[in-house]
Amino acid sequence: MSVLSGKHILLGVTGGIAAYKAAFLVREFIKKGAEVKVVMTETAKEFVTPLTLSTLSKNEVYSSFTNEDDDNAQWNNHVELALWADLFVVAPATANTLSKMANGTCDNLLLACYLSAKCPVYFAPAMDLDMYKHPSTKNSFDKLAHFGNIKIEAGYGELASGLVGEGRLAEPEDIVVFIENDILEKLPLKGKKLVITAGPTYEAIDPVRFIGNHSSGKMGFAIAKAAANLGAKVTLISGPSSQQLSHNNVEVVRVISAAQMYEKAHLVFNDCDIAILSAAVADYRPATVATQKIKKKEAGLTIELEKTSDILASLGKIKDKQFLVGFALETENEEENAKIKIKKKNLDLIVLNSLNDKGAGFATDTNKVTLIDANNNAYPFAVKPKEDVAQDILEHIIKKHYV
Ligand code: CTP
Repeated sequence: MSVLSGKHILLGVTGGIAAYKAAFLVREFIKKGAEVKVVMTETAKEFVTPLTLSTLSKNEVYSSFTNEDDDNAQWNNHVELALWADLFVVAPATANTLSKMANGTCDNLLLACYLSAKCPVYFAPAMDLDMYKHPSTKNSFDKLAHFGNIKIEAGYGELASGLVGEGRLAEPEDIVVFIENDILEKLPLKGKKLVITAGPTYEAIDPVRFIGNHSSGKMGFAIAKAAANLGAKVTLISGPSSQQLSHNNVEVVRVISAAQMYEKAHLVFNDCDIAILSAAVADYRPATVATQKIKKKEAGLTIELEKTSDILASLGKIKDKQFLVGFALETENEEENAKIKIKKKNLDLIVLNSLNDKGAGFATDTNKVTLIDANNNAYPFAVKPKEDVAQDILEHIIKKHYV
């Protein structure tokens, strides 16, 4: 899956012969799973029609502050458009537009969007070779780089003038690959290794029966996916769960019992940067496992249980550079109990969910958590889908503690 999947891309098209390539660029972005809106200058319309770009992007194309053709003319809100965008890509970018971007000129909708955008801005210049080399154009490039905008180098080849040199718009496929690589390179968890435990554990009573719990594994799988999308290499150790995850950055290790989870977690912990233990590990297991199916008898059945090893606490004991995160599911004196667990298990952060909160806990699609750090600072979050909770947890670790 591309890092562009699900991204909102605002494509700014300016008036140069290469504007026709914007059509191919829209198609490439769409193929990658992005949503595309196009804003174009008036001159760009002489090279490629808004109809082409709206058909390919499946969205309205914007070029002026109002829709003049429309009797109920509506204001095209440049701020809204700019804030909608996760990425603003100006391609092709003419010398004229680049100079205006560099100097804060705002005489069309595209430039108003540029000045309002808070997202990363990429620009792919396209112009004749002498224009490309001109000190004034160079000056625009330098200023834009200083603003943090990212240049996608023009290519070398035959230009519209018939001359041969630098200034050709980079090929649409190359623009897409450039942006994908740039995003991957800057992902906040790139180069980090994460260990995540998820799901329940099953503790065998005999060959057909076990002691288990209702954990679905959804929370841990959501954290693994979110971490992988943020660039981390993830080892996801999961107890029996119907959840599936196929991602280049994730190795899923399936286990059954607490003892197996303990062993796998210890194998990978030393080498990891962050460990997040969300599994609902059984605290007890049958002291002996019957080798044959236990037969029904007239009298009741008593099973002697023994404690399992606490994986989280054992990792807390050997913790060195690792950032260790535990979960706590509480029903009373929630924060107080969670704070005790942080100290007892030597954690850096605990994710507290209270069974008293609606929408929190085990088999639901949502969760409501409070993050508490080792200094007892508490950060409460609203009820959210587990995917968003996963994102909140990781962003909190990145922002407050980690990078
Ligand atoms: N945990 C673990 N290994 C165990 C038991 C729990 O790694 N054998 C981890 C869980 O994955 C979770 C955290 O410990 O991150 C909290 O588990 P919880 O059951 O809430 O706390 P306990 O310490 O077991 O205390 P209690 O059940 O008494 O609340």
